[in-house]
Amino acid sequence: MPLRLGVNIDHAATLRQARYARDPVGLLAEPDPVEAALIAEKAGADGITAHLREDRRHMQDRDIFRLKESLRTKLNLEMGNAPEIVAIALQVKAHDVCLVPENRHEITTEGGLDCLAHQTALQTTVGKLRDLGTVVSLFIDPDPDQICAAADLRADYIELHTGAFANATGSARSRELQRLVAGATQAHELGLRVNAGHGLNYQNVSELFVVPFMAELNIGHAIISRALFTGLADAVAEMKALCARYPL
Ligand code: PXP
Repeated sequence: MPLRLGVNIDHAATLRQARYARDPVGLLAEPDPVEAALIAEKAGADGITAHLREDRRHMQDRDIFRLKESLRTKLNLEMGNAPEIVAIALQVKAHDVCLVPENRHEITTEGGLDCLAHQTALQTTVGKLRDLGTVVSLFIDPDPDQICAAADLRADYIELHTGAFANATGSARSRELQRLVAGATQAHELGLRVNAGHGLNYQNVSELFVVPFMAELNIGHAIISRALFTGLADAVAEMKALCARYPL
């Protein structure tokens, strides 16, 4: 299977909220993240990722339901393990759910989930989602103990946090890459499927291709940023062309 591209469209909603936070579902509210998702799909996205945060800073509940209804590929709902958000996920029945840690003061998701510390709470949520037929992924750092814990939780996928790799320079960068290689290998041996994301862009994504067994990359900020200059369809198509170079 070729490397799939999940396009995270949160920042289309971020832009809308910058002007229309008081009335994000009003007729004037633009840009519409669902329209962005449909353009991304048409340009080759294999799925659409959207994060419903507890503070609703970008995506709104209605966006998530509209995405589920409108997408022809799949909705990957990113979310923290908070009861209110879990209830929405169970209602929306997203194809995929990626559980992430969430901290109200962060600008973006900062670290991976701690599957060891939150084992009991995660077990309940993973079970409920899987019972619905949702494919569950856990966003974790490439840490051997976390990968074992994700396997114990019977997740379908892990999404390896690539933020530390993306931010590292010099020898730290190759160290981070090696951690991702080891993490993907360990996950594969434990029967977990492997996605990756965070901080990936047009410059660094090919470097990541030494990491084996990757099924899907989830990329948001870089694609939406490039879209300002090239249009969203070209920005997605260009990233998709890079993904096509992943050695199988
Ligand atoms: N994957 C996860 C789990 C994330 O939390 C994010 C950020 O929302 C992304 C991927 C996309 O990150 P970026 O916007 O840096 O491409």
